[in-house]
Amino acid sequence: MTKKSPVSRSGRFAGGPAADVAQFTESISFDWRLWQHDIQGSIAHATMLQKIGVLAPGELSAITKGLNQIGKEIAAGKFLWKAELEDVHMNIEAELTRRVPAGAKLHTARSRNDQVALDVRLWLRDEIKMLLAEIADLQRALVSLGGKNAEVIIPGYTHLQRAQPVYLAHHLLAYVEMLERDCERLWDCHSRVNVCPLGSGAIAGSTLPLQREFLAKLLGFVNANGEVQITQNSMDGVSDRDFMIEFAAAGALLAVHISRLAEDVILWVSAEFNYLKIADAYTTGSSLMPQKKNPDIAELARGKTGRVVGNLMALLTLLKGLPMTYNRDLQEDKERLFDTADTVRATARLMAAMLNNTTVNKTACAAAASDPALLATDLADYLVRKGRPFRSAHHAVGVVVALAEKTGKGLNQLSLEELQSVDQAFGRDALGVFDLQTAMAKRNLIGAPGTKEVAKQLDRWRKQLS
Ligand code: ARG
Repeated sequence: MTKKSPVSRSGRFAGGPAADVAQFTESISFDWRLWQHDIQGSIAHATMLQKIGVLAPGELSAITKGLNQIGKEIAAGKFLWKAELEDVHMNIEAELTRRVPAGAKLHTARSRNDQVALDVRLWLRDEIKMLLAEIADLQRALVSLGGKNAEVIIPGYTHLQRAQPVYLAHHLLAYVEMLERDCERLWDCHSRVNVCPLGSGAIAGSTLPLQREFLAKLLGFVNANGEVQITQNSMDGVSDRDFMIEFAAAGALLAVHISRLAEDVILWVSAEFNYLKIADAYTTGSSLMPQKKNPDIAELARGKTGRVVGNLMALLTLLKGLPMTYNRDLQEDKERLFDTADTVRATARLMAAMLNNTTVNKTACAAAASDPALLATDLADYLVRKGRPFRSAHHAVGVVVALAEKTGKGLNQLSLEELQSVDQAFGRDALGVFDLQTAMAKRNLIGAPGTKEVAKQLDRWRKQLS
């Protein structure tokens, strides 16, 4: 083996690859971040190798010590990554073997194909847990903003046109629900990430008597019932990236959800709405217009959705038509995976921080919510209570709205005579419909934005997220 030649070329090749080949094929520039999980996997593999007699106890302890020492150096930024060693797996193994002769036995019955499949699964398992914590923080920020402003009512919109009044908390809790489904999807994905591929070898397992169950248990590949989770087909074990695509898909939908929240925030901090104010530290200025205060966190959260959706497309396309089993194409999975994980985590964190530093302009909300037109449907319901079919009630209130528009009055300023000119069923109590507090108190169906129901939902989420 020439000095610069990578471990994988020992024996078969006359020397190392051409410089531009090495540069084109290396992955150390991005897969170095798998180092912790690569070491974790190697220590477990070595432990199993000792158990089956491939390693002597002394060799196992030397390998474990060596790997832990390398881990310390990497953590301290003192480890020298070498591009000519291609990837994180060979960098660590080569350095270990340079220090510990028994390191040369570590790769027994293991291929980088099952090694990388293991590493990304271990990595993603941790990553999903951290992401779930971040999403829970964002949910808490939404619940907190809603709870602090529990009495605030705003117009709810359909078609971005004022529709019916809702509590601000109700609007914010809609996002909490979406985020909860995202958590469920991620947790479901976790169950398929949490399967151990080690022992699949390059494609066909090994002739050596590996103990896969023992290995999987060491690495915590166990489901909620305590059952060991191991891939059941070595070819699938080395070439399956479904779990990554599932994560990328769940991440893309999460990003889409956050982009909708971001868009609401962007609208609401505009002078046109003026419902929210973000603290200075969570906004940015304009280099030209001195008055500007921009909601850049929300805008970037919205914008970053593009790359996260793109990552999903890239991964699907990467896998499409790929013949069995491992192909080097699969090296392209990691940057997309890392980017989705990094992007959605940072986005969730920053959106939570921004919301925790956002105040509600109650005056502006109250002014917008006082629009009596928001209660036009309640007026139709009034007629329904008087026995009118809903379609006639809807028509009658439509005429009332036109009349109000023509006379330049608010819906709630029409006289009883004017109302009765449209429908005799209107009585003295008809205008009572426009009392906003009463109107909100009436909306007590499960899931409706009624006073009691929203308080109940806030309470449920506070408990669930504590
Ligand atoms: N860097 C490679 C990857 O990310 C590791 C596996 C390489 N395996 C191989 N047979 N060349 O997929």
